[in-house]
Amino acid sequence: MIGRRGFLASLAVLFAATLAAVLYFFLRSRGGGAGRSAGASPASGGGLAVGSEPSGAGGASAGGGLPVGNGAPAGRAPDSRTVSNLMAAYDRSLALEVKRLAFAAVADAEGFRDIATLFRAAARADAIHAALFTERLAAAGTPSGGGRTAAAPPSGLGAAARIAGCPEVQPQPTGGADAAPPPRTPGNLRSCIEENIRLHDTVYADFLKTAREERDKAAVEAFNYARTVAGELASLFSKALENPDAWKAGGRTFYVCSVCGRVQTGLKGTQCTLCFADNSKFVAVR
Ligand SMILES: [Fe+2]
Repeated sequence: MIGRRGFLASLAVLFAATLAAVLYFFLRSRGGGAGRSAGASPASGGGLAVGSEPSGAGGASAGGGLPVGNGAPAGRAPDSRTVSNLMAAYDRSLALEVKRLAFAAVADAEGFRDIATLFRAAARADAIHAALFTERLAAAGTPSGGGRTAAAPPSGLGAAARIAGCPEVQPQPTGGADAAPPPRTPGNLRSCIEENIRLHDTVYADFLKTAREERDKAAVEAFNYARTVAGELASLFSKALENPDAWKAGGRTFYVCSVCGRVQTGLKGTQCTLCFADNSKFVAVR
């Protein structure tokens, strides 16, 4: 008797468990239990939460605070302020690279060979920052460069100047056989100093603040690198402007960190003090 009642009770429990399981999987297949729909964000990557940091505070959409490998929140909305700032920073870095290369050509033509090398080192840093920004955009699931591509700079100073908006590199009319036009390199240095100070004090400072508010660690890192390097380059340009004639001999070498874009006049210690990459990551620009 006991055995029969026990058997019936077990059968009832089994039936209830089966019914509950069927009901659970039915509801789950309707999307009721996942919290985020598969494929809603291509940035969700492996989907493994490696930290407890919440997703972007600036109105980021879904994601449940799932950070991707490099620190970019998977929930970062494609139209978040940080994504918009990354796109702007990418465009600006490409334009700056073109401008510095144009300035380097002018400096070479005017005999300021070491200043030309400094401009080329700065252009290298701009290219590294552009790559950093587009990498961060790709990590967020935004098409590389927000749909932009790192097109080859246009050839010719005129084209470069048009894009970079720098009238200083436009050909100047000659003032006759005896009147040599004044060198344009000091003015180009001043232009770079003003722009770099603005980048350091305002543009990247604001981008950095927003990225911190949106808890976007990957973007914070990229903006921090670019801001620091902008300030340090302003100091180097200022040093050259103090006595441009002392920068004519040639032979100076600048070292550019290929990870963070820091520009140094020599190698110190064993690693970059900004991004802590090994010194082997520095590229010599001569
Ligand atoms: Fe570095």
